[in-house]
Amino acid sequence: MKKILTYGTFDLIHAGHINLLRRAKDLGDYLVVGISTDEFNKVKNKQAYHTFDNRKMILESIRFVDKVIPEYSWDQKIDDVKRYHIDIFVMGDDWKGQFDFLQEYCEVVYFPRTEGISTSEIKRNMNNNQ
Ligand code: CTP
Repeated sequence: MKKILTYGTFDLIHAGHINLLRRAKDLGDYLVVGISTDEFNKVKNKQAYHTFDNRKMILESIRFVDKVIPEYSWDQKIDDVKRYHIDIFVMGDDWKGQFDFLQEYCEVVYFPRTEGISTSEIKRNMNNNQ
């Protein structure tokens, strides 16, 4: 069985997230998604609208996603790759090159981001329209 791993905040799920998750799952059989905890989002200077528990529940309802795990630190990736026997690590190409150190443990793939949409963009548009 080929196992895939990706990470993100995945707040206010949008088409860019779904495209990424679908393409990731298409690479194999089992997709593990690490989602940032609310505490880790503070470290990343992000404030999610949905709590970790709700983002987890939403992600678990997406048919491309097989397992959701917490992302609580920048440094957990090698451990997660080993723990979940990951074959392919996937991220959007806004992170291109930044996780190449994982190539020692698994294949690393960067997918082009879906143009014109992001959680930050949704929040900006909602605020401007009020
Ligand atoms: N992603 C994507 N296309 C988009 C937006 C996100 O492929 N238009 C990918 C990212 O590259 C990442 C994953 O989805 O691999 C999770 O991204 P996340 O940071 O949670 O979403 P963003 O919409 O980029 O959020 P923000 O605007 O807060 O950075």
